[in-house]
Amino acid sequence: MDKNFYITTPIYYPSAKPHMGHAYSSIIADFFARFKKIDGFSVFFLTGTDEHGLKIQRAAEQRNLDPLELCDQISQTFKDLSKTLNLTNTDFIRTTEERHKKSVKYLWKELKKNDDIYLSKYSGWYSVSDEAFYNENEIENVDGKKIATSSKSSVEWVDEESYFFRLSKWQKPLLEYYKNNPNFIQPESRKNEVISFVESGLKDLSVSRKSFSWGIKVPDDENHVIYVWLDALTNYISALNYPDIKNQLFKRYWPASIHLIGKDILRFHAIYWPAFLLAAKIKLPEKVYGHGWILSGEEKMSKSKGNILDPLEIIKIYGLDPLRYYLIKEVSFGNDGNISQNKLEDCINSDLANNYGNLCQRVVSFAVKNLKSKIPKKIKFEDEDIKILDNYKNNINKIRSKIDENDINFYIDFIINSLFAANKYFNDQEPWKKKEDTVRLNTIVYTTLEIIRKISFMLYPIIPGTSLKALKIFDINENEINFSSIEKHDNLKPESKINSIDILFRKIEKFDD
Ligand code: ME8
Ligand code: MG
Repeated sequence: MDKNFYITTPIYYPSAKPHMGHAYSSIIADFFARFKKIDGFSVFFLTGTDEHGLKIQRAAEQRNLDPLELCDQISQTFKDLSKTLNLTNTDFIRTTEERHKKSVKYLWKELKKNDDIYLSKYSGWYSVSDEAFYNENEIENVDGKKIATSSKSSVEWVDEESYFFRLSKWQKPLLEYYKNNPNFIQPESRKNEVISFVESGLKDLSVSRKSFSWGIKVPDDENHVIYVWLDALTNYISALNYPDIKNQLFKRYWPASIHLIGKDILRFHAIYWPAFLLAAKIKLPEKVYGHGWILSGEEKMSKSKGNILDPLEIIKIYGLDPLRYYLIKEVSFGNDGNISQNKLEDCINSDLANNYGNLCQRVVSFAVKNLKSKIPKKIKFEDEDIKILDNYKNNINKIRSKIDENDINFYIDFIINSLFAANKYFNDQEPWKKKEDTVRLNTIVYTTLEIIRKISFMLYPIIPGTSLKALKIFDINENEINFSSIEKHDNLKPESKINSIDILFRKIEKFDD
C-alpha cells in the first residue's frame, strides 16, 4: 500500500488579508493531514500564496505599493495565520519565489515543445477579480454593468495578442479520464457540472497577457507574462522541485492525493490543470475536492464583497479549537455553511465542555481520589466493558475508508456517539458504588480511561491542542498518537501515573439559558 499522502490547499491571493473562507479550507486540509499522519502516512501538506497577475498589480497600485511589497506584507499574514490555526503544513509556497518561477518556465517550454501552445489574438471578456476569461453566454448585464453570472464579479473587454493553449485538443482525453477515474472530481454533484461543461465543448485557452507586466515572463517572448492560473496551478509541483522529477519529494508525493479547493475554482483544477498535465505528460492528481462556501447571509464571503469575518476575532473570543471544531462539524462538508456564534457556543457547551471535557474531568478526578492516581493493575473485563471497547476495533477500517471518501460527518458522528456512550457507561456502571469490589472498580475506571485515550486520539485531527492537553493524563505526547492503536485495549500501563488536568473547555453563559 502507498503510505504517502500529499494534500494541498489553494494558494491564496495576497490582495487582502485572509478571512474565514481561507481559514476554512486550511483547517479542513489540516484535519486530513493530521489524520493521515497519525495513521502512519508520510504526509506532505502544502499551502501558500498566489502572487502574480492583474488582480495583485491593481491591489498594489491602489495602495501605492510595489506588487512585491504588497505580496511580502500580505503573504506574511497568511503565514502567520497558518501558525495561529495550528496547521501542520510542510511547506508554504509563494509564486514569486525563484524555485516556482523556474518550474513554471520549464512547464511552459514543455507545452510549447509539444505544440500545445501557439500565438494568436484574444478578444473577449475577462474578470480581474476571478482572473478568468468568460464566454458571452456566461455574462449578464446588471445596472448597465457587465458581470460574470457565476461569480457576480465585473468583467472587462480584452483585445490583445496572446498565446493560447490547445485546450480543445484535450476534451476527449479529459472525458475519458473522468470516466476511468470516477473519484477524480468530488463531490459527485460537482463532478457532473464539470463533465457537462467539458462535453459542451472546450475552446483553446488564452495563457498569456501583454498589457501588464506583473507576472512570469513567457520564455523567449518578454512582451508577454504567463496567465496567472497556469502560473499558480504549477505550485503543486514546483513545491516538489519539478522539473527534477527524480528527486525524493516528487517521487514520493506526486501525484497528489487530493487538491482541496473551494467550488469557485473547480474549473481551473478539474479541467485546465489536468489538461496542462496531460499535455506535459505528467501524472494527474488522484482527486480534486471542491468544498462549499462559508456564506455571509446568503452570499459567498469574499474580500471583493467586503462581507468578511476575520477568523482572528472569533479565535480571540472563543479560542482556536472551538473554531476548528465548529468548522469541521457544523459546516457539512461539501455544502455551503454559515458561521453562527450561537451555534458555536452550543458546540462549546454541549459537545466540547459537557460531553468531552466533563468526561475527562470526572473520570480523572475519580481515579485520583480512588485509585491513588495510578492506572489500576488488577482488572477483569466483563461483557459490557468489552462491548464498548470493541466498538472502536470494529469500526477502525470503516473509519479509514470513510476518511478516504472525505466523509467527515461519519467521523464526527462516530466521536459524538462514542462520547455519549462513554458518559452513559460511566453513569450506568456506578463505580462510586463499587468501593468494596476493587477489581470491578478498577476495571470500570480502566475502561473509561482507555476510552478517553481512544477518543482523544480521534479528536487530535480536529482539536489538536485540546487533545494533547487531555493526553497529558497519560503523559502521551504528540508523536505517540497512533490511530491503529485505538483497536487495542491494553495500552494503558498498569501502575503508571494518572495526571490531573486543567479544565478543557469553559462553558459559555448564554442569555437564553
Ligand atoms: O482563487 N468559503 O485564491 P483566493 C469557503 N489564487 N472557502 C473560501 C471562501 C468562502 N467564502 N472564500 C475563499 C484563488 N475560500 C486562487 C487559487 S490555486 C492554484 C489558486 C477559499 O484567495 C476556497 O478554498 O480567491 C477558495 O477556493 C479559495 O479560498 C480562493 O482563494
Ligand atoms: Mg477568490
